This record gives sequence, structure tokens and C-alpha cells, in this order.
Amino acid sequence: MNSGPDTKSKLPDVGTTIFTVMSRRAIEQGAVNVGQGFPDYPIDPALATCVADAIAAGFNQYAPMEGNIGLRAAIATGISAAGGRAVDPESEITVSCGGTESIYSAIQAVVGPGDEAIVFDPAYDAYDPAIRLAGGRCIHIPLAAPHFRYDWERVRRAISDRTRLIVINNPHNPATSVATAGDLDALAALVLERGKGDRPITVLADEVYEHVLYDGRKHQSVMNHEVLSSCSYAVYSFGKTLHITGWRVGYCVAPTELTRELRKVHQFNAFSIAAPLQEAIRLYLERHPDAWRRVGAFFSAKRDLLRARLADSGLELPPAQGSYFQLADYGRLAGFSSLDDVQFTEKLINEAGVAVIPLSPFYREPPAGMRIVRLCVAKRDETLIEAARRISGYLRPGAHA
Ligand SMILES: Cc1ncc(COP(=O)(O)O)c(C=O)c1O
Repeated sequence: MNSGPDTKSKLPDVGTTIFTVMSRRAIEQGAVNVGQGFPDYPIDPALATCVADAIAAGFNQYAPMEGNIGLRAAIATGISAAGGRAVDPESEITVSCGGTESIYSAIQAVVGPGDEAIVFDPAYDAYDPAIRLAGGRCIHIPLAAPHFRYDWERVRRAISDRTRLIVINNPHNPATSVATAGDLDALAALVLERGKGDRPITVLADEVYEHVLYDGRKHQSVMNHEVLSSCSYAVYSFGKTLHITGWRVGYCVAPTELTRELRKVHQFNAFSIAAPLQEAIRLYLERHPDAWRRVGAFFSAKRDLLRARLADSGLELPPAQGSYFQLADYGRLAGFSSLDDVQFTEKLINEAGVAVIPLSPFYREPPAGMRIVRLCVAKRDETLIEAARRISGYLRPGAHA
């Protein structure tokens, strides 16, 4: 959402993110908020106990710049348990301020003035500004609706001598699609074509929804890929995995050389992450080692609930494969299909009392006629039921008379 171009700004076209804007509006309007991606249910009380335990145990001063070593060891164990390569917690894992800081630091570490970085639209909004702040040029390649698949031939054509980084997001926010093994192989082939010379292509794999896959799908992580695991920054978020987005604890896994460069940025940016929170997560993973495994089933039930409750709304609901979002297409709804997605979102919040997120802000050039909005399923069942009741009642009043 922009407040007009500012010629003195380094990012003249960037305003407050659509997520913040919609959450603020939801509070002002008293709307049900299924827009921004954060849980509205309480955290596991056992996790809260771990915070108290960590503080009582004295974890109150600067944590190591790289992250709590016990936590990093637990992360490395988790990666190999999921079939990933052996990771050295000392030199290959860095705990960051949410996944966001890992993304920012990785981009600053790799991209320089005149370099190009490829992102896929719709794209999570943190990539493009970080690339431009690094002095790079961001090349946007669309994923085509309705299935949001990669066109690797188009990517090959977009690669130039200046390409330094390719950013993928899997599972994908907002598309809710997941990458296949074939996608990772195709990406690896492009990286190999460039070779290891002095200007290799690095991959930034945003895998913050790694545990949120539906209907028996298996996450295809760059960490499990022979080629990509040696040339990628892989980014994760405890915010997503343990339902604690406000703690701002994430991490980045990358080969030693890449990690060394990332830490040069991280140490002068975040420096280190909240000591008691890192120790609390370490304790929690020790006491509940299978906590991460429950997330997929948890969100799958919520996705199904929302879909069932919206069945009569007239919205088309493309099947979500992963992430904790559900897309809704209003293009066939008489009386609404002429509105663009921002106008539709405005109407929903003002007239139905429900905050959702339009898809066009995730694009540099939104496809003409796209009529899709994003709903977050990481909400209490009551929130999802009430949101669906209001949406259905508003869009199809007759159907619920
Ligand atoms: C695709 C994607 N990447 C990264 C992040 C950032 O994660 P964190 O909240 O840990 O900074 C988010 C958060 O919504 C996201 O959806």
C-alpha cells in the first residue's frame, strides 16, 4: 500500500506491508481477521513453561552470535532425521530474527550492485526490497494460475551472466503449491549449467512451511537434494512450526562458506537472538521431540474445516497443497466478479466484517482479471467458522436465508 513516490527514498514504491495494513484495519473495524498469517490460539503451555525455566536458569544475556549451540544441534538432528544431509551445527546453522532476517542476510551476503536475482510471482514480499537494497535487480517470473507451476524453460531464458541468486519458496505462500522432485532437479540443472566458477548461482530456499504439507505429500527440501544442498541457503521459522510468530526465532542452514558470508551480515544486523527464547525452544524440542511432526495434521484439519464451511459461499477453493493458507477465487460470483482483488477485499472488510489478503500485492505485474484472495487457516476453529459464516452470508445471502 503506497503513499506516493518519494524520490529521496531508497525504496520509493514500498509502503507498509499489506499484512500489517489489513491487520490494523481488522482491529479498527472489529473484523474477523483471517488475513495475516499468525495464530490466534494460545501456545502450548509446556512451551511457556520452558521460557520460565530458561530465564530461571540464567539465559538472560547475549546469546552466541551464531545461535544457542544446543538448539543448533537439535536442528541438525532434525534435518538428518528428515533425510537431509549431515549438517555441522557449528559452521552451517545460524539462528536469526525469524525467517525474515535469514532471508535478508542471505540476500545481502550474495547480491551486489548490478547483480540479478530471480524471484517467482506471486512472491512473499520480503525478497524484492532486500534485493534492491543490496543494489541488485530483481527479475520477476510469474507462476501461472491456477496451479502456480514453475516454467523452467522461462527461467533458463531469464538467466544472464549477472544472475547471482534464485529464490524459491516451498511450500509456497501465497500460492499454497508445493515443489516436486522434478522442480528441484530442474533448478539444480540450471545451477550446474552455470558451474562453480567465480560467479556461481546461489539458491535461497524459503522453506518456512516445511512441515505444513497436505494429503500425504512429502516435503522436497533443498537439504535432501544432492546438488542444491551444497549451493543453497535454506530458511526456516520456529514461528510457523511451533505457532510462535511473535518470538521472532528462525534459522538458516547453508554450507560453511555461504554461512560465513551470511554471518558477516547477521552479526551487524540482529547480532544475536533472544537468549531465553532460544533456550526455551531447545528445552521444548528435548522434552517434546515430535512437536514438529504434528503441525501438518493440525493445519490440514483447519484447512478442511474452512473449506467445508465455505462450500456454499460461491467461492472457488483451489486445493491447497501446503502452507497455512487457502486461496479463494470469486471470479464466478455475480455482482463481485467485476471488482479487482483489492476492491473485493475492501468490500469484505467493510461490509462482511472479514479481513482477507488480496493476491495482487504479491506480484510486480498482477495478471489481468485475477480474482483471488488469500485466507489464513492458522486460526481457532471458532474464528474460521465465524469468518466463513460472514463471508457466505454476505456473498450468497439467499443461500442461507
Ligand atoms: C513465505 C514466508 N517466508 C518467510 C516468512 C517469515 O517468517 P518469520 O515470521 O519467521 O520471519 C513468512 C511469514 O509469513 C512467509 O510466509
